Amino acid sequence: MCGIVGYIGDKNVYPILINGLKRLEYRGYDSAGIVMFDSQLNIYKRKGKVIDLENYVSDKNTNGNIGIGHTRWATHGEPNDINAHPHVSMNGKFSLVHNGIIENYLDLKKDLGNHGIKFHSDTDSEVLVNLIEYFYEQDEDVTAEMAVRLALSKVVGAYGIVVICKEEENKLIAARKGSPLVIGIGRGEYFLASDASPIVEHTKQVVYLNDFDVAIIEKDSLTLKNIENTPVPISIKEVDLHIGEMEKGEFEHFMLKEIFEQPKTIEDTFRGRINPDQTEIVLGGLLDIFPKILEAERIIILGCGTSWHAGLIGEYLIEEYAQIPVEVEYASEFRYRNPVITERDVIIAISQSGETADTLAALAMAKEKSALILGICNVVGSSITRETVAGVYTHAGMEIGVASTKAFSAQVTVLTLLSLKLAKAKEKISAELYGSLIKELAEIPEKIKTILVTHPHIKKIAEKYQEANSALYLGRGYLFPVALEGALKLKEISYIHAEGYAAGEMKHGPIALVDNNLPVMVVAPRDSYYEKIVSNIQEVKARNGNIIAVVSEGDSRLKEMVDDVLEIPKSHPAVSPLLAIIPLQLLAYYIAVLRGCNVDQPRNLAKSVTVE
Ligand code: G6P
Repeated sequence: MCGIVGYIGDKNVYPILINGLKRLEYRGYDSAGIVMFDSQLNIYKRKGKVIDLENYVSDKNTNGNIGIGHTRWATHGEPNDINAHPHVSMNGKFSLVHNGIIENYLDLKKDLGNHGIKFHSDTDSEVLVNLIEYFYEQDEDVTAEMAVRLALSKVVGAYGIVVICKEEENKLIAARKGSPLVIGIGRGEYFLASDASPIVEHTKQVVYLNDFDVAIIEKDSLTLKNIENTPVPISIKEVDLHIGEMEKGEFEHFMLKEIFEQPKTIEDTFRGRINPDQTEIVLGGLLDIFPKILEAERIIILGCGTSWHAGLIGEYLIEEYAQIPVEVEYASEFRYRNPVITERDVIIAISQSGETADTLAALAMAKEKSALILGICNVVGSSITRETVAGVYTHAGMEIGVASTKAFSAQVTVLTLLSLKLAKAKEKISAELYGSLIKELAEIPEKIKTILVTHPHIKKIAEKYQEANSALYLGRGYLFPVALEGALKLKEISYIHAEGYAAGEMKHGPIALVDNNLPVMVVAPRDSYYEKIVSNIQEVKARNGNIIAVVSEGDSRLKEMVDDVLEIPKSHPAVSPLLAIIPLQLLAYYIAVLRGCNVDQPRNLAKSVTVE
């Protein structure tokens, strides 16, 4: 949700900023801007993509060795040139890029207005930069850094900011509360960004800012303190991120690349976590805390979007095998109600980015109520991984397509491992079943490959349904969350209205929608629900609905009954979500491409939602 970059050193700042913004574009892409210091602050901003900014800047002065940039996902004020960042204070002394929301910006704006300060944009960020300048101008002893700290002490809300002051042009000032910021450490130079992706091509040494940290960055020095001016120790980490992960390679879109990566993703997720004779699951991150998880009276899984869907599969798995009661909650709801949480509860936050604001806030609330808080995250070093007591990394590699695909598979893999590990430790599962499920899981990557090669067939089906206005996705058991996730993929990237439903609930509402214009995607492999779902299919057929069914290979009975089939290899039901989701991801992808949609950057969405 908004991407921030910054640089200070001896190099020309412009290519570093523009390339950095391209790397971060998945976080927001409605407008972009940069400011560079070259005896004055040169600011360029444009509505649209980073490429629009680049074209606009092509004939401008791009000199300078210090600068900041921003790619925006609008919260306050529509996407246009004026609301784009960087923002400049009224007297032109400060420029700022901001990610987050200043909740009390209207009050602050009114106060500043009473002091004669004029605003040009509708943004909360312009208020903040003017507040900084206001404090700076109160007294000549106030430095830029002091002004930033004073301003932030008045702010209610979330921010990741980088500030540049025209009168102290040899430094960048960065601060964080709630919105991530990473500082890359080079030789005689520093890089700043919302995540490590624009930094790793320059340096792998990074410092993650914590909430309330303020960083004062000069070419040769980095100072960390908090907003009360107390020094904060600097902890340098090494990032394990490779440039190849951030390139599309031979694929047309990141989303397609990430769908095709899933066999490897799943292998990476369980690599080193299953011992060679497949009798033991090792989740290193949970080692110390595992006895406490075993004692849990209840597990509460928190997440948003796709991660919430993975959580639902986790609920089914953990209850089925480990017999521990599980609840799955939307973090955005959980944080604002008054849930009953006790110290015997174990909270597991699932998040690809590890930065989702609602998930972080829900975790903080659970922590306050003394529950044990754990995380299942993809991004190493992200806020959730730092806020939780322990956790498991999904190791899916960097996911850039806004619609999550491989991260989902990795999350489900971790949840499968966790449920089996809990089941074994609680002696709720037989050795045979335990062994056979591990074996089934280990076979999934190869099975996914056999689905991926059917992509031309899936593309043909996409051609047939590309004009649909609406679609219904049905599934039962483990495949109900898969239906939800399939529908989410379609709506996110093709803008076709799609609903996922538990197949058994269809007759309580959605069946009213069925006619010969409505594609109904039914996830119907041969499992214990098979006969039930066949009945649902018949109910849809009796009302002239078009059915595309995900079926087990060789299922001639359903082939006869439905309009189109997407075959997946046979598997145990507990691991079937990892197979059934693949054709649905591809179907959504091809439909979106055929409709001319921007698959990797769907309208209005952002990859990492760091505002509530
Ligand atoms: C956004 C993304 C989704 C993601 C959700 C939760 O909406 O577009 O793909 O599932 O946030 O994100 P998280 O990083 O917490 O998994």
